[in-house]
Amino acid sequence: MSCSLRPVERAHRGTVEALLRATGMFRPSEVETAVQVLDESLAGEDDYRWLGAFDGESLVGCICWGPTPGTEGTYDLYWLVVDPARQGQGLGTELLTAVERRLRAAQGRLLVTETSSRGDYAPTRAFYEHRGYTRAATIPGYYAPGDDLVIYSKDLTDGDLAGTTA
Ligand SMILES: CC(C)(COP(=O)(O)OP(=O)(O)OC[C@H]1O[C@@H](n2cnc3c(N)ncnc32)[C@H](O)[C@@H]1OP(=O)(O)O)[C@@H](O)C(=O)NCCC(=O)NCCS
Repeated sequence: MSCSLRPVERAHRGTVEALLRATGMFRPSEVETAVQVLDESLAGEDDYRWLGAFDGESLVGCICWGPTPGTEGTYDLYWLVVDPARQGQGLGTELLTAVERRLRAAQGRLLVTETSSRGDYAPTRAFYEHRGYTRAATIPGYYAPGDDLVIYSKDLTDGDLAGTTA
C-alpha cells in the first residue's frame, strides 16, 4: 500500500480520536489528552507536532512528538497509532523513521517514549526494541498495581550522546 506522510489538519481531528480509540490500547483520559494536545498544536503551539500517514485523503496513522522542556536536544514521542486494519504493513515504521530523520536534521540527540509493561503492550515494546530503542527505565506499579511504566530511548547521535568531556 502506498501512503503519503503530511501534517495532520483540523479536518482530521475526529479521525485521530477514532484511531486512538480503535486500538483499545489507550485509556479514555489519554485519548482526551491527545485530542486536546492536537487542538493546541493546530492553534500554533509548537510543543507538540503531528504527522499523519494518508491513504489518499484518509488518515490511517499518526505520530505526535515534541521537545522535552528543560533539555538540550531531547524529544518525547507522545503518541503513535496506526489503524488496526493497517497495522503490520510498515506504516508505524515509516512514521517513526520520518520523525527520527527530522530530529536528526534539527540536531535532536535523544528520543524518549513511554509505554506499559502490560501483556497487551508486548507487540508495542517489540516494535520499539526492533527499531533501536533501549529500555532505559521501569517504574513498577506506575499506571496501576502490576502495570509498570517502561521508558524507551533512542540515541539519535550515532553514539555521541555523552558528548565530549573537557
Ligand atoms: C505499534 C504500532 C504503532 C506499530 O505500527 P505498525 O504499522 O503496525 O508497525 P509496522 O508495520 O511498521 O511494523 C511491524 C512491527 O510492529 C510490531 N507490531 C506491534 N503491534 C502490532 C500490531 N498490532 N500488528 C502488527 N504488528 C505489530 C510487529 O511485531 C512488527 O515487528 P517487527 O517488524 O519488528 O517484526 C501499531 O501497531 C499500533 O498502532 N499499535 C497500537 C497503539 C500503540 O501501541 N502505539 C504505540 C504506543 S504510543
